[in-house]
Amino acid sequence: MENTAAISALFRRIAPRYDLMNRLMTWGQDLRWRRAASRLLLTEQPERLLDLAAGTGDFASIASHLIPSLREVYLVDITPEMLAYAPSKKPHREGLHWHIEVADAHSLPFPENFFDAVTVGYGMRNFSDRPQALREIYRVLRPNGMALILETGIPTSPLWKAIFWVYFRFYVPFLGRVLTRDREAYVYLPESTAAFPHRESFVYLCKEAGFSSVTYDAFWGGASILYKLRKDA
Ligand SMILES: C[S@@+](CC[C@H](N)C(=O)[O-])C[C@H]1O[C@@H](n2cnc3c(N)ncnc32)[C@H](O)[C@@H]1O
Repeated sequence: MENTAAISALFRRIAPRYDLMNRLMTWGQDLRWRRAASRLLLTEQPERLLDLAAGTGDFASIASHLIPSLREVYLVDITPEMLAYAPSKKPHREGLHWHIEVADAHSLPFPENFFDAVTVGYGMRNFSDRPQALREIYRVLRPNGMALILETGIPTSPLWKAIFWVYFRFYVPFLGRVLTRDREAYVYLPESTAAFPHRESFVYLCKEAGFSSVTYDAFWGGASILYKLRKDA
């Protein structure tokens, strides 16, 4: 599955059960990973945040709850049916505005240096042209701004890697079939994870897009990875 329209059609189908699948697949850890990422932005004191591939809004919601400096949060996604679940997750805080927009990560409708920070939760894997999406993130981020990209990963320990693949290739598609009636979508998840350029390969792509500093942390032995990108001051 490579083109943006086909990927959006897949997310349109699973949108109603997307959050439940995430909680069950990761035993609720996905929320913890988004929280850990959001906390890294606390000291940055961002006012304007882009949550790209925002989906049902979990990352934007957690960031909005945890980061008091935020005023304007833009939730951008290609699939309106995913975004439809986001508005109810906005915290009620005076002075906090959410802008929910349908747009393509490969061509963002924002001027350069517009955002103080960018988050992407499990979206990068789905972009058909990742170098272009990374260039767009770089363009819309202000100098010295930080982008945080959470993505599925592959554990490095041989035992954990073997357990992880059995879990990911058999249990997750089974769960997907039962809950979403869409096994294909949850076969796509391990396949796209296997095809993703992980760790140093992804760091290389980020640096090619212009980011001067790129590091990463692994969660769950590497099943989920948080990439931290900094644009030069
Ligand atoms: C796995 S979901 C992640 C949702 C959310 N960020 C989260 O943390 O749960 C991936 C999202 O990427 C979106 N997406 C895929 N291709 C896209 C593109 N080219 N531009 C914008 N969003 C895209 C899909 O519509 C989907 O909502």
